Amino acid sequence: MAVQRRYDLINRLFTWGLDERWRRQAARECLKERPEQLLDLCCGTAGLALRLVGMSSGSTMIVGIDFSLPMLEIAREKAKHASMSERVALVHGDTAALPFPDGHFDCIGISFAFRNLTYKNPLALRYLNEVLRVLRPGGRFVLVESSQPTSRLIRKLFHLYMRWYVSRLGHLLSGNRGAYRYLAESASRFYTAEELRNLMLEVGFSKFSSRRLALGTVAIHVATK
Ligand SMILES: C[S@@+](CC[C@H](N)C(=O)[O-])C[C@H]1O[C@@H](n2cnc3c(N)ncnc32)[C@H](O)[C@@H]1O
Repeated sequence: MAVQRRYDLINRLFTWGLDERWRRQAARECLKERPEQLLDLCCGTAGLALRLVGMSSGSTMIVGIDFSLPMLEIAREKAKHASMSERVALVHGDTAALPFPDGHFDCIGISFAFRNLTYKNPLALRYLNEVLRVLRPGGRFVLVESSQPTSRLIRKLFHLYMRWYVSRLGHLLSGNRGAYRYLAESASRFYTAEELRNLMLEVGFSKFSSRRLALGTVAIHVATK
């Protein structure tokens, strides 16, 4: 439970507090077309789901799903503490077999977990097909994720930052060397916005757009079914 308990704190430290701002921007993007049914996929400690609750009206149904029980336990504590438990359903489940009917969601958001689903993951296509299945036609998949800066110099500095600062500090604070090595490596080698666009169009999304943040180290992408 060590990583989970300190997960939010470690994120704040790595991003100098900006991760909350990026989630807020992603939540705004999710709510743009006034969805009625919204999913926070791989919700973790519910950072995005609780933002969505705070920024939407009571008629919006918000569900968060994650396969980690310890993360969900923290999510539930946070929802309770914020008096938001009534507005969000936190579900235990795997993206490989989402427990929702076809075309159920108007929008699916995912914050800082798309990399986990697709970086060297043999189940990546299965996950993306499940996302497509539970999204209604015309529905939007909003991703906020680390990205690759277009400037070679900034990319180099970003990779150094991940390998020297994030990987070591994460290990120190969580006691889990593997988790933060994986984070540093996967973020350094993850898709560029252009590669991601090709992947999403290939699997069956019809439109794709990207907005770069933080010198291109992070991006918000929107893929439409
Ligand atoms: C880096 S955390 C991101 C959590 C959260 N979305 C956030 O913004 O902080 C990745 C999360 O994805 C979850 N996850 C990874 N693979 C999953 C899968 N196949 N199905 C459901 N959850 C998954 C993990 O349990 C973890 O909580």
